[in-house]
Amino acid sequence: MSKILVVGASGTVGTSLVEALRAKGHEVVRATSQKPGADQRLFNLVTGEGLSAAFTDIERAFLLSPPGHTNQDELLAPVINEAKAKGVKKVVLMTAMGANADDSLPLRKAEIALEKSGLAYNIIRPNWFMQNFNSYWLHNILAHGEIQLPVADAKGSFIDTRDIAAVAAELLTRHDFDNRDFDLTGDESLDHNQVAEHLSRATEKTIRFRDITPEELRAQLLGAQLPAPYVEVLLTILGYFKLGYAAGITDAVSTITGRSPIRFAQYAKDFRSAWVR
Ligand SMILES: NC(=O)c1ccc[n+]([C@@H]2O[C@H](COP(=O)([O-])OP(=O)(O)OC[C@H]3O[C@@H](n4cnc5c(N)ncnc54)[C@H](OP(=O)(O)O)[C@@H]3O)[C@@H](O)[C@H]2O)c1
Repeated sequence: MSKILVVGASGTVGTSLVEALRAKGHEVVRATSQKPGADQRLFNLVTGEGLSAAFTDIERAFLLSPPGHTNQDELLAPVINEAKAKGVKKVVLMTAMGANADDSLPLRKAEIALEKSGLAYNIIRPNWFMQNFNSYWLHNILAHGEIQLPVADAKGSFIDTRDIAAVAAELLTRHDFDNRDFDLTGDESLDHNQVAEHLSRATEKTIRFRDITPEELRAQLLGAQLPAPYVEVLLTILGYFKLGYAAGITDAVSTITGRSPIRFAQYAKDFRSAWVR
């Protein structure tokens, strides 16, 4: 059976995607920017190391831009060119909901490069991940019992990364949706007080939401060593969240996978151990 290359294979989405593809019987090559192990292939999108061999024997590929970088078009354009040159049959690119708001945004430029490449493709644009509450936003939940974000009572249709992986696994192995783009969301829109209630219920602890200023979050993220330009991008898109742009719901997950998206209550139950320590 032909091989599928997964970029970001050790990440939140990639780990579930590799599992889903292997469960369907596909042979997966896991790309990594670290020292590669047995089923891995060295491929660093930032340095270009491994690019010339990345697509050897590869029929289909999943691409993302590693977090922390704001020049996503510069990172992904050479990868798309190389995939085309090596005769890859299909590429699924994960960007982010809102990436197509403006053609001058780096993520949108990467999407356009893929659209114009002549490769069969899908672009998936997930909304904010549920799993941010057990990763990016975990520190304040454990240290203060609080989700601290500058978003007031705006709602978001958060998506479980296992659903993103399920969608990507379908799109990589089917052609009936070729050359289409999809915004991926959950099927309910919640504000952060409701998120905190779900986490409290699942953990039997009191977890609250506190609306903080963008300046407070900037200080926190810089203190956690995130690169300054990336922090500014995060603050900008959280500003859009506060304005309501993350609240919309699409039916893409059920259209592509044939089942409903995972609900926040289920996510909170499944990841309970992250907040109970
Ligand atoms: N968090 C959200 O709410 C959200 C919402 C929408 C979209 N997104 C998008 O999701 C993507 C992140 O996905 P994720 O959360 O699944 O990833 P993640 O868990 O943050 O993991 C990052 C992955 O990137 C790989 N990586 C790091 N540096 C690399 C490099 N220089 N070259 C190649 N690979 C590299 C890492 O693998 P190695 O260390 O093995 O190289 C790892 O597998 C980003 O593009 C982000 O914009 C996030």
